[in-house]
Order: sequence, then C-alpha cells, then structure tokens
Amino acid sequence: MKYPVTLIEGDGIGPEVTGATTKILDAAGAPIVWEKALGGLAAVEALGHPMPEQTLNSIRQNRLGLKGPLATPKGKGYRSANVHLRQELDLFVGYRPVQTLPGITTPYKDVNIIVLRENTEDLYAGIEHAITEDTVLTLKVSTHRSGERIARWAFEHMRNHGRRSILCCHKSAVVPMADGAFADAFETVAGDYPYIDSGQLEVDSLAFELARDPTPFDVLLLQNLYGDILSDLAAGLVGGLGVVPGANIGDKIAVFEAVHGTAPDIAGKGIANPLAVLSSGLLLLEYVGEQTIAERIRRAVFDVLEEGKHLTGDLGGDADTAKFTAAIIDKL
Ligand code: NAI
Repeated sequence: MKYPVTLIEGDGIGPEVTGATTKILDAAGAPIVWEKALGGLAAVEALGHPMPEQTLNSIRQNRLGLKGPLATPKGKGYRSANVHLRQELDLFVGYRPVQTLPGITTPYKDVNIIVLRENTEDLYAGIEHAITEDTVLTLKVSTHRSGERIARWAFEHMRNHGRRSILCCHKSAVVPMADGAFADAFETVAGDYPYIDSGQLEVDSLAFELARDPTPFDVLLLQNLYGDILSDLAAGLVGGLGVVPGANIGDKIAVFEAVHGTAPDIAGKGIANPLAVLSSGLLLLEYVGEQTIAERIRRAVFDVLEEGKHLTGDLGGDADTAKFTAAIIDKL
C-alpha cells in the first residue's frame, strides 16, 4: 500500500528543502506517492490564488499533505496562504515538537517540548476594519468550542504518547474574556484527565521561564498568536528554524510543514537545511503508522548530525543541501 500525499514545494528555499526530503524518503523506501500541487507565489501566477481550490481539493482527497514554506504577496488583498489552508481545512491543531538534537550545540541539553497552538481563531481570524481614519480594530476571536476541542486533542495525544504534564499559557489577567474562555475550556477538559498533571501560566512568564531553563517543560497549549511566537522561541532553543518540524492537524486531515519561512536571503543558493521539512515528513510517516521506517531515517539523520562532517551553514558546517542529503542517504 502506498499513501498518496499532496506535495506543495512552496517558495524561496521550498523546492530545495522539499526536493531533498522526497529524495531521502524515496531512498528509504517510504511508501508514499507524491502528488504535486501549487501553493504560494507559483499558485498566484498560475491560478490567481496563493492557496487555490485545486490544491485544497487534492489535500481533502488524500487527507495528507507535505508543504514547503509559502510567501503571500503583500498589499494585494490576499490572506496568508498558510492561515487560509488551516482555516479552510479546519486544521485546528498546530503541532510543534521541539527536541534537543545530537551534534547540535545549544545552551540547554534535554529539551523535549511539544508546543500546541490553536490554529483557527484569535487575531488570525482576519476580522479587521478601520473605524476612523486614525483607528483600526482587529478582533480576537475565542470560542469555548475551539478551546475545548484543542484541549481534548492535547490530553488524548498525551495519553497515547506517554506525556505527563501540560501547561495552558495565556494572558487572562489582561484579556479576561478571550483568554479567560480558552483557560476555562482547558480546565473543563483537564477535569476528565486527573492522571495527567495540568496547570496554567501567564504567557509572559512562560517566555521568561523558557529562556531561563526550558528543560522542565513538557506540553504547552496556547492560542494562535502566542503559539506562533513561542514556538519560534522554542525552536531557537534547539538549533533554530532549520531543524524544527511541524504539523497542522484536523479531525481527518493533516498537513506537515517546517516552521521556517521561505528564507529569501539564501534561496536558490543550494545551502538551505532540509532537516525541518524532512523531520516533518517523519512526523507524517508516524502519523500514518509507519514508525519503523521513520525511526530508520531518524537514526540516519542523527548519525550524520553526531558525526558533524556534513552539516549545513546554519548548524556551523560548510555542507550544501545536496551534500547533507547525500550523507543521510549514505547512512540509510
Ligand atoms: P525565514 O524563516 O524565512 O528566515 C529567517 C532566518 O532563518 C533567515 O536568516 C533564513 O536564512 C534562516 N532560515 C530559515 N529556514 C532555514 C533553513 N531551512 N536553513 C537554513 N536557514 C534557514 O523568516 P522570514 O525571513 O521572516 O520570512 C520570509 C518569508 O517566509 C515571508 O514571506 C514569510 O511570510 C514567509 N513565511 C512562511 C512560513 C510558512 O510558509 N510556514 C512561515 C514563516 C514565514
């Protein structure tokens, strides 16, 4: 059985890092058939929208996607292609595991955090208007239903994956209604899981504590904006945007993607680190139950990182994308 997966190569370094990823997964014999679809600038040029209906339909049909970073043309009336994708397919969970990797020197060892971000509401709901020439209004949307839905997903995930402790982080002291609703929904659901350690923390305290010592943290649950910011902070703790995977998960559909952007400063130079998209591909394999092959590829990646001979520039090495990719395939 082979899984059809919609592949959006994306913009900037997207084709370089997704190309390296598919090469490695194919070399490992991952049972995937890639179905290319357009997103980002290429989709605007060909189909007039950064996240066209054809692409959404391909994902709806396959239920699985792997996506490179997308640029959204600014000032042309388009909403972010990523936000559009998450909302149209109701991919309500932003899933970002952040783990210390072998061979990458960082200030802290043994970081192992899952950042979960509510993907569909908050300021990203896109409800903005000007009320006077001088004043604009952006609405922060927060429903009990969405808070409860992601909290339940979080606790179920923890129960199935042996994670013990979760913190819901918000700013309810200052935004008592929107953030308070999220916190209340969390508490309601937490009551159903007394065997999982749960608590709440103001999001600014979380930022402070993460910078001071991230090692005690396990699972973090945040609304959209806080989750966006804090997950990048967390990525910085383990080696940067080039190494951290991510996924957008709904009830029936999951789209896997790196947390980094299109990296216009290095695009086309063949030096981007494909590890983030590759690791997202490994999450995809695990999601469909192909743990063995995912583990084999992860072992090969760890071997290359531990050896340290073929690291990309962002990790302090001088290998280009092709050399790093070849080194992993060699280990396989
Ligand atoms: P960025 O993540 O593209 O770049 C930030 C820095 O990290 C740059 O110095 C870049 O060279 C480096 N970097 C990122 N990925 C790397 C990799 N794989 N290997 C080595 N170095 C890497 O963030 P920036 O510059 O803020 O955004 C650029 C564009 O990307 C914008 O148009 C933004 O909208 C878009 N973007 C798209 C995302 C997505 O599709 N998920 C996420 C974030 C930004």
